[in-house]
Amino acid sequence: EVGMLSDELRMNAYIVGGFVRDLLMRNKNFDVDIVVEGDATVVARTYAGRKGAKVSVHDKFKTAVVILNGDRIDFATARTEYYDFPAAAPEVESSSIKNDLYRRDFSINSLAVQINNKDFGKLIDFFGGQKDIKDKKIRVLHNLSFVDDPSRVFRAIRFAVRFGFEIGPHTKKLIKHSVNLNLIERIAGVRLFQELKYILSEDNYIDALKLLDEYDLFKYYSAKEVYNSGKLENLENLEKIYSWYTFQFSEVCDEIYKSRFCVLFSNLTFKEVVNLGERFNFSGKMRDDLIKGLLKTKNVVLKITKTKEVTPAKVYRLLNPLSNEYIFSVGALLSQKDDYLIKDYFTKYRNTKLLISGNDLKKLGYKPSKLFGVVLEKLLDLKLDGYITNKEDELNWAKK
Ligand code: CTP
Repeated sequence: EVGMLSDELRMNAYIVGGFVRDLLMRNKNFDVDIVVEGDATVVARTYAGRKGAKVSVHDKFKTAVVILNGDRIDFATARTEYYDFPAAAPEVESSSIKNDLYRRDFSINSLAVQINNKDFGKLIDFFGGQKDIKDKKIRVLHNLSFVDDPSRVFRAIRFAVRFGFEIGPHTKKLIKHSVNLNLIERIAGVRLFQELKYILSEDNYIDALKLLDEYDLFKYYSAKEVYNSGKLENLENLEKIYSWYTFQFSEVCDEIYKSRFCVLFSNLTFKEVVNLGERFNFSGKMRDDLIKGLLKTKNVVLKITKTKEVTPAKVYRLLNPLSNEYIFSVGALLSQKDDYLIKDYFTKYRNTKLLISGNDLKKLGYKPSKLFGVVLEKLLDLKLDGYITNKEDELNWAKK
């Protein structure tokens, strides 16, 4: 429909980027990016108008987003960089999509499919994207790709591990040059964090960490060594605990990157952790979550390690304030023989409930007060540690 509409408006339209790559690789991808030779905002507005869909337009960049039945379609105007053509003769138009694609990161992302009626489904491959998908190669389109955008170094690693591709030899060399020239330092903190978050969200992120180490990229995150064989063991521990959890409760965790982040930086000191948050330019919300989460995780690990007698009640009180992501990290950082603490927490302790409530205390003749909370907490501890087992016990202890 967008294609037919573009015909009416005499513009060429293409689906580009990740969607096409994933289509050829038979991977799922629901994010559609459309590039228009002409003016994408006109196509997006007309399309949304006809569909009765929501559209938001960025006139300055000539881009737009249409939300249709909850799906997102991004529209962009072909960027030519050097010259700006009005929608004109076809040969000029095709050079415009070519320029747009040439400005992209890797050949596998430089594919496009035309969607105009006349040429519907025509695959556009100016830079050998199909061959690189076949050869399983991540390859830049030109030597200045990482100068244009150094964060592509991290993208190269992410795509390589996601698809099990190799980074091409020339592209490898360019990555090494970018590191030697310190181009990476130019990446804004927010972006540096984003890239790490994306990498830590990949299933094969451990392979990505190996590559980050190989290219000496960890130094942009921390002056102190964070990646070594001990850390790898912790991360493997984490994955074991997390797989146990997903299997046990048939539940995945959308933000498992947080656990991995926490384990990765677990050997930093308090001050270094705070500096990390500053380096990433974290908002208050992110600081409260990730930075505090990391600090709390470290604290809980320390307490469990230092406690002589780790009772269920103690474990419950330490783990209960943490969200699951951080509980997994605690497990990963404890020695493996203590895994059972985390498992017992999830399967037993967190479900332990008292059989009596504040109401029962009232019935016993006590006046409601803040002390109720304290008494009930104490009772729960006794129950967790096995001192009380039934309602009668609970009432008797409450009286005491
Ligand atoms: N792109 C780029 N350089 C960047 C970021 C993005 O050239 N630093 C281009 C890529 O060609 C990419 C497109 O913009 O295909 C869209 O970017 P993004 O949505 O980040 O990538 P996807 O390829 O869709 O990857 P993902 O599957 O992770 O969403």
